[in-house]
Amino acid sequence: MIKINENYLKLQDSYLFSTIAKKVADFQAKNPDKKIIKLGIGDVTLPIAPKIIEAIHKATDEMAKKETFKGYGPEQGYDFLREKIVEWDYKKRGISIEKEEIFISDGAKCDTGNIQELFSTDNIIAITDPVYPVYLDSNVMAGRTGSFDKNTGKFEKVVYMPATAENNFEPELPKEKVDMLYLCFPNNPTGTVLNKEQLTKWVKYAKENGSIIFFDSAYEAYISEENVPHSIYEIEGAKEVAIEFRSFSKTAGFTGVRCAYAVVPKELKVGEVSLNALWNRRQCTKFNGVPYITQKAAEAVYTEEGQKQIKENIAYYMENARIIREGLEKSGYTVYGGKNAPYIWLKVPEGMTSWEFFDKLLEEKNIVGTPGSGFGPSGEGYFRLTAFGSRENTIEAMNRIKQ
Ligand code: MLT
Repeated sequence: MIKINENYLKLQDSYLFSTIAKKVADFQAKNPDKKIIKLGIGDVTLPIAPKIIEAIHKATDEMAKKETFKGYGPEQGYDFLREKIVEWDYKKRGISIEKEEIFISDGAKCDTGNIQELFSTDNIIAITDPVYPVYLDSNVMAGRTGSFDKNTGKFEKVVYMPATAENNFEPELPKEKVDMLYLCFPNNPTGTVLNKEQLTKWVKYAKENGSIIFFDSAYEAYISEENVPHSIYEIEGAKEVAIEFRSFSKTAGFTGVRCAYAVVPKELKVGEVSLNALWNRRQCTKFNGVPYITQKAAEAVYTEEGQKQIKENIAYYMENARIIREGLEKSGYTVYGGKNAPYIWLKVPEGMTSWEFFDKLLEEKNIVGTPGSGFGPSGEGYFRLTAFGSRENTIEAMNRIKQ
């Protein structure tokens, strides 16, 4: 008889954000007159910038004409977009990346979930705790994590690196040797960052231990402070140990458009094997590229006008972040993040769990957030709110909490 991949049975019943969506839908069905404010999943709400929309229209018209119609594109992405990324995201910051090192995709979620396929299931992975659930779940599915211990809420073979108020959200380097390290900075969910000196320690660790860092910098556009690296390649030697993931979702409002990219440097090798060549092989087999129209939309991000417009949207969200941070502080909460990231991480009231706080906030204030424990055991006692709501809803949510 056919057998299933039993690793899937080790996963929680449903993905964190699906569980929340279901709870919210149930509550709304029972309370149709209540206006629920959703500050849970980090989904953008502002429309796409006009310069990008213009590019979408133009590319759509090209698809309507025989002379300019496009069928399959290159699996790695069109050169017009890869070249812009090299120029704007890296060269302008003094980082040298070749266009062949850029792989355009339909999302950082897919890329960070898929990348583990290149590596043996014997490898030891290390994740920060709390963590974006995709890194862990994709390794559970692959069978790299061992069994789940209900008492600790941890998988047997995974190294958890706590990032809490106690260590100022700077996870400690693993004491043991690990092979695959997942880092996300600016961090989802805590909204905190590492400075250059702090990130340098991780690159050094990876070099000394022969490990690879998967660096998710999907929120780099939200960095406002100096000395916070936008790319791991700002750290010397990182090209030999790190793969970087970037996304247009939060940078340019593409959560519904879908476009991202991974940087797999040519220097990055395991023994004699080039990871750039391996990822290329994987993508050519399993992925047929991002639609031409979408890549044209992403290209428009890299124009003076496009940059100005997306920065206005980012500033709008960061003003929401300030309103949330200050509103919560005035209401007596201890808050973190929200300065270099669109996420605000707060301590839940003493004696409550993250999920209890979720229920209370939903039922009494009709506000949706994300329970910290959904991101890992060290997230217990914390709660995440996003700055991606509308200004009106953000202000109303803070007023409701103040009352
Ligand atoms: C989040 O809320 O953490 C993000 O929306 C998740 C994602 O980008 O996939």
